[in-house]
Amino acid sequence: MDKKIEELQRRLKLAWEGGGPKRIERQHSQKKLTARERIGYLLDEGSFEEMGALVTHRTTDFGMASQKYYGDGVVTGYGTIHGRLVYVYAQDFTVFGGSLSETHAEKICKVMDLAVQVGAPVIGLNDSGGARIQEGVRSLGGYADIFYRNVRASGVVPQLSAIMGPCAGGAVYSPAMTDFILMVEETSYMFVTGPNVVKTVTNENVTSEELGGAGTHAVKSGVAHRTAPNDVACLEDLKTLLSYLPQSNREKAPELPFELSDEMREELMGIVPENPNKPYDMHEVIQGIIDRDTFYEIHKDYAENIITGFARLGGKSIGVIANQPLFLAGVLDSNSSRKAARFTRFCDSFNIPLLILVDVPGFLPGTDQEWSGIIMHGAKLLYALSEATVPRITVITRKAYGGAYDVMNSKHIGADLNYAWPGAEIAVMGAKGASEIIFRKEISQAEDPEKILAEKEAEYAAKFANPYRAARRGFIDEVILPRETRRKLIRGFASLNHKEVDQPKRKHGNIPL
Ligand code: HXC
Repeated sequence: MDKKIEELQRRLKLAWEGGGPKRIERQHSQKKLTARERIGYLLDEGSFEEMGALVTHRTTDFGMASQKYYGDGVVTGYGTIHGRLVYVYAQDFTVFGGSLSETHAEKICKVMDLAVQVGAPVIGLNDSGGARIQEGVRSLGGYADIFYRNVRASGVVPQLSAIMGPCAGGAVYSPAMTDFILMVEETSYMFVTGPNVVKTVTNENVTSEELGGAGTHAVKSGVAHRTAPNDVACLEDLKTLLSYLPQSNREKAPELPFELSDEMREELMGIVPENPNKPYDMHEVIQGIIDRDTFYEIHKDYAENIITGFARLGGKSIGVIANQPLFLAGVLDSNSSRKAARFTRFCDSFNIPLLILVDVPGFLPGTDQEWSGIIMHGAKLLYALSEATVPRITVITRKAYGGAYDVMNSKHIGADLNYAWPGAEIAVMGAKGASEIIFRKEISQAEDPEKILAEKEAEYAAKFANPYRAARRGFIDEVILPRETRRKLIRGFASLNHKEVDQPKRKHGNIPL
């Protein structure tokens, strides 16, 4: 028996060594942890249960029969984070560069299938040279098996991806179909075709970092939702993100113990400036409303004219979508609409109530926007909010103009509670623009056009630049003081806790993708 135990231990030891000490050293010299070290940081201590440590590939071409490593370049299994079950896979770059073989893919598929059946999140730690070149189409088939499962799992269990090394070619499409992508700065990159191919095809000179590094995807493309300075910080960030999410679409996100105190927030009274054209930072409003220091921002550096993120309100996890007057006056454009639409759909899939803070002057005009399809992208946000059945509450802090008023979770598209602060302006457009259009004749014929314009502007503002017309019609449920917003929202969301909405029978809608 001793011999048999020794044999098991010998094999497991080989599995734990991955590609061997030299390759591990190289990994460390590149400021990267190994797959097992990453899992060690991610999961609660001692909670990891590995599956498939003794799997090897089945390839014989190109001398592969004599090159076998236990685990085949990916460590898979389950464990807990803050006591909650998660399924995890971590690609091991020290074994064939973490490249994906048929068996490597089978291991990933196995944990994904279990996660969906059990109802627990899947976390993928990606660090891979892509398709295992020696395997050809079997590797491509393995990728597609994963892609298919990503789609089957979408909206059923949260899927989180950390990019902690190379992620290129078609390999990018698995993370792309997960809910969130976190990238490690300087050591990770994602692109469909690398710098060499780019040079050949378009004659552009670009580095991997410029083409698909963490900064590029966090700011320019929006592919990355968050970035972290190193592996450990990225793994910590994954844990924080998970704390806002439920285990699956069958559950609600965990609630923290909470006592209703600190509900009046005086600091909210002085944030919005008197002058309607002066910007302010909507983050201050968010911080003034939520439980202290609980804002977890998504897409912080992408389409900054809208803010998206998770927070806790009265101990409950909520999703926040807020126009940001500090950037482009908080206007809606193509990118901000897509950003907020995708966030809305995530929250709705996973029973996370939505708070929408509104200060929006409208949609961004211009050829750039029209030609980039703002009609279609703006419609995404309108569609996503309209179809969301989670509790939805709106607070208009200042402007709600034009079509953007409708889009930003108006009563008309199914919001449950709509509040406005006393300085809110709910109108088709600003007073000046409106007066210029409807009194054009009068103004142009006047002796002193500027004086008439100012008079008309004042008249229009008095009539429409307030929340009371909307309140009279019931489009606004209540005009509230900023200081009482937090209390109203805590009570409002509590009242909506058991909200249920009947859906029309259909296969699925046709969101304007
Ligand atoms: C097999 C691979 C591999 C791969 C790397 N290795 N990529 N083995 N298949 N795809 C092996 C190397 O042979 C090497 O083995 C070890 O991993 C480390 O690789 P290095 O090149 O030494 O590392 P580094 O210098 O850090 O460069 C990393 C890299 C480079 C940039 C990722 O390895 C690279 O360009 N690899 C090929 C990438 C690629 O073209 N993949 C296929 C893309 S097509 P030893 O034994 O020396 O340690 C694709 C399609 C997916 O992915 C389609 C899905 C639908």
